Order: sequence, then C-alpha cells, then structure tokens
Amino acid sequence: SDIRIEVVKNKKEGGKVAYRLIKEALEEDAEVFGLATGSTPETLYKELRESDLDFSDKIAVNLDEYIGLASDHPQSYHSFMQEHLFDSKPFKATYIPDGTAKEEVEVERYDKILEEHPIDVQILGIGTNAHIGFNEPGTPFGTKTHKVKLTEDTIQANKRNFDSEDEVPGHAYSMGIASIMAAKKIILMAYGENKAEAIDKAVNGPVTEDVPASILQNHPDVVIVVDEEAASRL
Ligand code: GLP
Repeated sequence: SDIRIEVVKNKKEGGKVAYRLIKEALEEDAEVFGLATGSTPETLYKELRESDLDFSDKIAVNLDEYIGLASDHPQSYHSFMQEHLFDSKPFKATYIPDGTAKEEVEVERYDKILEEHPIDVQILGIGTNAHIGFNEPGTPFGTKTHKVKLTEDTIQANKRNFDSEDEVPGHAYSMGIASIMAAKKIILMAYGENKAEAIDKAVNGPVTEDVPASILQNHPDVVIVVDEEAASRL
C-alpha cells in the first residue's frame, strides 16, 4: 500500500507534524476539512488555535456525534469542537451530525452536505478496535452516513469523558467508510501502546471489514502519524 508512516516522539510532536500537513494543504487551496474528536487530535487543534492560519473561508465537516446529546451538552462532539477549535478559529461553515435529529432525516441531510462539500483533507483517530469515525468492526466498506450501535469496547474506552458508564450514549451518527475514503487526503494519528495492535492490523493486516482502518491501504494518499508506542508492532 501507499501509506506513509511518520513516527514521532510524542503526541505534542505528532500535533506539529499534522499541523504542517494541514498548512501544506491550505497552501494547495484545500477548502473542506474533515475533522475528528477524541483525545488524539487535541495537540493538532492546539497548534491550529495558536497559529495564524486563516480558516474563515473554509468548511469543516465532522465525522460523528453521539445520538441523544444536544449540541450544547458538555460531552457532545459539538461542544468538543467549539472548545478545541471553532471558538478560536472560525470557519465559514461547520457541520456535525445532529444527535437529536431523526435517523432518516439526519442520514440524508449529512450525505447531502458531504456531496456538496467533498473533503480535501480528513483527520482521523483510531479506536483500539481499529474503528474510524464510529465505524465499528463489521461495518460494510460501502457505507455512507449511518446510525451506529456502539460496541462495548468503545463505550468502555469513551466512558472516561462522562460521569458514569450509563451516561455514555449507546448510539451515534457517523460518516461511513465510503464517506471517509472519498477524502482526497487522509491524516490518521495514533498515540500510545493501546493503539499499537490496531495500527499494525490497519497497516499490515488483510483489508477486511473486521478491521475498519485496514481499508486505508486502498487509499492513494494516507499519512499515519504515530508515536513510538503506537508504532511498536509495525
Ligand atoms: C471515538 C471517536 C473516534 C476516535 C476514537 C479514539 O470513538 N468517535 O473518532 O478516533 O474514539 O479516541 P481517542 O483519540 O480519545 O483515543
């Protein structure tokens, strides 16, 4: 595959590498940025916040949102994006799935947004089970925006952001694998030992729906930014 691997010392350095890739994309007139939440992109967003890069005529389209959380809920991905990026770096428009909307309405609305705004650069984290966005193992590769039932793994991994496990929503809306693969360029970041197996399977394993990130082997322009721990099984 054509995946390029950049091994960095730590999450802070990873943020700087991803920042430079975003800066290059801006210089090449990228207009639509596919964005991700989670702890992984935090250092990238910090670099962006502290930079003088201008996104005021750019579009942001986020990967996913929990179902049942209103946009102003403190644990919503809307709130995360406001706090980590949008409050200090305004975009012309930002899109995130609406966790309070009905499935039929939301899936169609979001696919239309993605059709109208084809993604130039997609930022990704990865789950310990190799999910991307909220596309859990077994999701067909052809999937576009859809409603997802979160796996027990994912609920366990994400409960640290909530007061208790029962507050973690059981479902989410997520861009599908096909939506992610349509991006021109993909930057995936992963830090820490607990991501090492997912990264190894994604990069070196068979391309299979059991390992959602393995589909990236079929994409022409993927950069994976990993620290030494996450790269330790490569
Ligand atoms: C969540 C998000 C993913 C993210 C993953 C890893 O489930 N939906 O987009 O990549 O968790 O999160 P973290 O970066 O906090 O390890």
